[in-house]
Amino acid sequence: MTDLLRPRVLGQSPTRVDGPAKVTGTARYAGDQRVSDPAYVHLVQADVARGVLTEVDVSAAQALHGVLAVLTPDNAPRLASTDDAELAAFQSHEVAFRGQVVAAVVARTREIARHAAALVRVEIDQRPHDVHLSADRDDLYAPEKVNGGSATDTEQGDIGTGLAHSPFTLDQTYTTAWYNNNPLEPHTTTALWLDGDLALYESTQGVHTTRESTARVLGLAPERVHVIAPHVGGGFGSKGTVHVHVIIAALAAKAVPGTPVKLALTRQQMFSLVGYRTPTIQRVRLGCDADGRLAVVAVDAVGQTARIKEFAEQTAVPSRTVYAAPNRRTTHRLAALDVPVPSWMRAPGECPGMFGPEVAVDELAIACGLDPVEFRIRNEPDVDPDTGKPFSSRNLVACLREGARRFGWEHRDPAPRARAESGWLMGTGVAASTYPVNRIPGSVATVRCTAPGRYLVSIGAVDIGTGTWTSLAQIAADALGADFTDVEMRIGDTARPRASVAGGSSGITSWGSTVVAAAREFRRTFGDHPAEGAEASAAMPEDDVGEEYAMHAFGAQFAEVRVHADTGEVRVPRLLGVFAVGRVVNPRLARSQLIGGMTMGLSMALHEHSVLDERFGHVVNHDFAEYHIATNSDVPHVEAHWVEEHDPHTNPMGTKGIGEIGIVGTAAAIANAAHHATGVRVRDLPLTLDHFLE
Ligand code: MOS
Repeated sequence: MTDLLRPRVLGQSPTRVDGPAKVTGTARYAGDQRVSDPAYVHLVQADVARGVLTEVDVSAAQALHGVLAVLTPDNAPRLASTDDAELAAFQSHEVAFRGQVVAAVVARTREIARHAAALVRVEIDQRPHDVHLSADRDDLYAPEKVNGGSATDTEQGDIGTGLAHSPFTLDQTYTTAWYNNNPLEPHTTTALWLDGDLALYESTQGVHTTRESTARVLGLAPERVHVIAPHVGGGFGSKGTVHVHVIIAALAAKAVPGTPVKLALTRQQMFSLVGYRTPTIQRVRLGCDADGRLAVVAVDAVGQTARIKEFAEQTAVPSRTVYAAPNRRTTHRLAALDVPVPSWMRAPGECPGMFGPEVAVDELAIACGLDPVEFRIRNEPDVDPDTGKPFSSRNLVACLREGARRFGWEHRDPAPRARAESGWLMGTGVAASTYPVNRIPGSVATVRCTAPGRYLVSIGAVDIGTGTWTSLAQIAADALGADFTDVEMRIGDTARPRASVAGGSSGITSWGSTVVAAAREFRRTFGDHPAEGAEASAAMPEDDVGEEYAMHAFGAQFAEVRVHADTGEVRVPRLLGVFAVGRVVNPRLARSQLIGGMTMGLSMALHEHSVLDERFGHVVNHDFAEYHIATNSDVPHVEAHWVEEHDPHTNPMGTKGIGEIGIVGTAAAIANAAHHATGVRVRDLPLTLDHFLE
């Protein structure tokens, strides 16, 4: 049990402290930072998926007035480390995916840089490429671990026997699409060198993690890399790790000594250079008895990775924890293809991995004549089925019940295709959500008294739009016994104490615990009346609680869907989620996170789909004209609620991460509702209208 904070400011909803700067346009993002007389970088990308560069002719580009330098594999400096092939800019003549950067122009203006980039003549000796993902490939392989460090495969009991003895069984394959991260602010770097030190204004989820990766690739001591990110216009995981443009910006600035450079990726470039969510193929097998009690839960997941760098989406991991069943199996297999490097996208693993199983559960519930809410309640485990550990708290059942009550589930006619209004078939559906409580070690915070009763709290955390500026100040205020307005935060800069990445919904758990530790150290040292200038620091406490308990957030998502009987058009007039996420630090900000996740889940269910042209190996709809993201008119009514949950084990605030769980389960709830509306079972995302036209 952790020494819990007494909540005073926690649970209140102060408005964002960075709000005024954002709405008045004075908040500086990475590309807005004022540096004197910057040059601009534009990238040249390979237009084939595999080959060898035979020539990069820069003469025409170089001859253009205003061009300062052109970097290519022929002239770029050697990097200290090429272990991470994604970051090994210009270190080889091999082309490993379409869109790989083969040259970079540095010029006086953005326009000249872009024009000159078009004048670079690239010759590539093209080789046959392979970008075809399929579960039938004979070269699928098992990665050593999957993302997050989980085991690749697990097995308990015997699924063959379990299925043979189950009166109701299901064996179906579900697929999720290729999705690209599209934060509103494109990935942008402003880079400058000063006396051998590198300063980066970077749109990133982690300033210290960016420093560490960049320093390693460039062969610098980490202290010589200074990373600054006061405001970030969304990340969703693509800004959680360093991508190649950061290295290129550093090299470009080095190529024009004394001149800072700015590099902003175009929207189209983001479709090949900043990671994306791998498409997945999920074979789900379930078996249950006549009462709907599961005897078998098996998920075999196939995803893709890039030939040059492995990323293993942990698609089957969430199914290890959600429902009880004596016979269980999960596997992950990868196809290594000539594709861009996949990476994190909001709830990697949980988001795609709760689609197949949660649609499968709906199918099996219907098969054995049970309400899908009741079916899930019957399969609630006593302990975590994966580890055998007790849950620190688990309130999936409460979420299902509260959601059903708020949504009006009791009035539902279980028969599909039973309700129609003016040409629209109407239906409702449900799915469960889950997300682990992640905790990343290695953060440090400092508390300083700046005037009687006033405090400055420093930690290199980043606010990627989630509200970190505000929520950490709330936590600090309670830990110091101060008012919210008496705490000022200093974050988003490697000049502050080291902080872990804003990833895996771990921010508040990791940084909040660290801030509490520093505040407690401060109060222990200086008592209730500290002198001005008094200062104390502390690192995130080591915590063995995680060893004793399985810690996860849960939720239940309810969707109302209408499908047009003639055109097959799918709309989602209503989404309602109820979540169990521990204590909520700031209800206003939390609600924003949850409805944001649910909206992104709706977008994934209906619209988003990166369409690969296998002939050329690229995503053809690589812009906002054709990669459709849900807009206001697609999302008429989204409600997020939470149940009271007291968890004394997660951290001193009693919180669980909320940045990602909102997207988990949404697509399954919508697919289940679409089935209820139409009687058509769609197992492949997105739910485009062609699925509903016979
Ligand atoms: Mo988030 S996808 O864990 O950065």
